[in-house]
Amino acid sequence: MSLEPGREQWASRLGFILAAMGSAVGLGNVWRFSYVTGENGGAAFLLIYITFILLIGIPIIMAEFTIGRKAQSDAVGSFEKLAPGKPWKVAGLLGVSAAFLILSFYGVIAGWISYYFINYLTGSLWSAPADGYESFFVSFITDPVKPLFWQFIFMGFTIGIVYIGVKKGIERSNKILMPLLGVLLILLSIYSLSLGGAQEGLAFLFTPDWSALKDPSIYLAALGQAFFSLSLGMGALITYGSYLSKRDRLPGAAASVATLDTLFAIIAGLMIFPAVFALGMNPADGPGLVFMVMPNVFDNIGFGGIFGLLFFFLLTAAALSSAVSLLEVAVAYFIRKFDWSRKKATVIIGSIIFVLGIPSSLGQGALSNIRIIGDRDILDSIDFIASNIFLPLGGLMIALFMGWGFKKVDALRDSDFGDTALGHIWLFLLRFVAPIAILLVFLSSIGLFN
Ligand code: PHE
Ligand code: NA
Repeated sequence: MSLEPGREQWASRLGFILAAMGSAVGLGNVWRFSYVTGENGGAAFLLIYITFILLIGIPIIMAEFTIGRKAQSDAVGSFEKLAPGKPWKVAGLLGVSAAFLILSFYGVIAGWISYYFINYLTGSLWSAPADGYESFFVSFITDPVKPLFWQFIFMGFTIGIVYIGVKKGIERSNKILMPLLGVLLILLSIYSLSLGGAQEGLAFLFTPDWSALKDPSIYLAALGQAFFSLSLGMGALITYGSYLSKRDRLPGAAASVATLDTLFAIIAGLMIFPAVFALGMNPADGPGLVFMVMPNVFDNIGFGGIFGLLFFFLLTAAALSSAVSLLEVAVAYFIRKFDWSRKKATVIIGSIIFVLGIPSSLGQGALSNIRIIGDRDILDSIDFIASNIFLPLGGLMIALFMGWGFKKVDALRDSDFGDTALGHIWLFLLRFVAPIAILLVFLSSIGLFN
């Protein structure tokens, strides 16, 4: 397989793992995981979520890595290269569309996070605003201009990093900032568990209410969360895998990315839910959950403003490396497809995505009466379409492509599994378990089994 001219490779073995981890660990683990878990009843949801990661997520991560490294091209080009003239590239096109949609609202939420960071930097959130942290949050996100400004700033940074190039931008900062975020989340969860709501919080997260399993919507929510959090189903990991050389061992990389991402989510849960109950708040409060809970927690800690500052700073950094990977999916495609330079593609695509995100931001205030999917506002609707439908659908196709579109020996060799039991289990999961599970979740959520 020939390299495309001018394609970069990761500077080091660690570089790839760090970048994949940097893509995975982001707002999905803290902001999205906590509110989606909260809305879906806690422990039963968590159980399904983890089951999906093991049976569907990890096998598909492996498939994406394998496809990317073998094809050495972007999300769409990889399918065209490995299966010329076949319809598999639809998976890649779906992925590129998902990247546009997800980054459009990701930039909005990350803008909110950056705004909180700046407010902790200036000290203005170190003590509760006159009307409390909740109304501070609501008046900020419903403002017609301020959130757009912060979304613009965040997207500007994202564009800047991708503009400079893939390896320089990402490999460095993740190495330091991600472990720091991990340590901070652990410290905060220890503190949170020392508050009065520890028992209730733990029960919420770990003692399943089995009757919740009867509701088909929690399966779809768990599936979407698993794909979103693992950066899966849209070719982000194909794209990153394509900058990989043959030296790297894929199964170990896939397992570490999934484990780390899931640990971050669970620790974030241990940080949020005890505090939610200690503060007498509602876990089902929706996308504002972190923004309303955590400042109250920091307010309780002596010099908690420092923690607030670190928390929102490190979260901004984590969001940045995820946003970079989202933009990279689209940019890598346009560079190859239209022969654009990296710089041109980055600026054009990044700007389009910024504009695409404006309605999601305005949907909190001026356009809040617009409801698209059920009772969901614009942001939640786009999130729903991209995360719960496009990503699993893309994942389904990737699983089928790897499981059925490859000769078994080739798949086992190219994945570094070789002729091992684990390799055969992997192919079995890709061929049968993952596709059937995804289909069942889709069918049940459109009410087919009711
Ligand atoms: N996984 C990232 C997060 O948890 C979001 C993301 C989704 C990044 C899809 C890339 C692709 O924040
Ligand atoms: Na994640």
